[in-house]
Amino acid sequence: MEDQEFINNFSAVLAAVVAIVVFIFVLAIGLSSKDETMDMAMEKRTKERIAPISRVHVGEVAAAATPAADAMAEATPEQIYQSACNACHAAGVLEAPRLEDRAAWETRYAQGLDVLYQSVINGKGNMPAKGGRIDLSDDAIRKTVDYMLEAAGLVP
Ligand code: HEC
Repeated sequence: MEDQEFINNFSAVLAAVVAIVVFIFVLAIGLSSKDETMDMAMEKRTKERIAPISRVHVGEVAAAATPAADAMAEATPEQIYQSACNACHAAGVLEAPRLEDRAAWETRYAQGLDVLYQSVINGKGNMPAKGGRIDLSDDAIRKTVDYMLEAAGLVP
C-alpha cells in the first residue's frame, strides 16, 4: 500500500516536472522566434540603409542613373544648374568661380566657349567631370554653361 502511494506521488511529481520542462521549451521557442523576426527586421532596415551606397559601389551607376537622366532630359538649363552646379558655384565652394562674379567669368570666357564646355564635361581642378553628375548629357552641360554665362552677365 505504501509502495502504491509512493508511485502515485512520484508520478505526480514527474508529471509536474515534464509539464514545467515543456512549458519552458515552448517559451524558449516563442522567444527565439521573436528574436529572429527582430533580426530579420533589423537586417532589412540595414539593407535599406546601405542600398543606395552599395548600388554605386557595385558599378550599377549606369542603371541607377538612367531614370535621373530621363528626368533631366526635360529639365531647363536653369533647373540643371540649380540641381547640379549651384551647390559649388553659388557660394564659391572649393574655389569655384561664383555665378555672380562677372569678372571671374570674363576671364574664364576668354579661354573660349569650347574650353569651358570641355572643362565641365571632363572635370577641371576641384570640379569633378560634369560637376559629379555623369548622368547629364554633354549637350545638357553645354546648355547649362551657356545659361551660367548669361546669368553672370556675359552673352555667349
Ligand atoms: C564640386 C563643386 C562643383 C560643382 C558641383 C560644379 N563645379 Fe564648376 N567649377 C568648380 C571649380 C572648383 C571650378 C574651378 C576649376 C579650376 O579652374 O581649377 C569650376 C569651374 C567651372 C567652369 C569654368 C571652367 C574653366 O575652364 O575655367 C565652368 C564653366 C563650370 N565650372 C561649370 C559648371 C557646371 C555647368 C556645373 C554643373 C553641371 C558645375 N560647374 C558644377 C566646382 C564645381
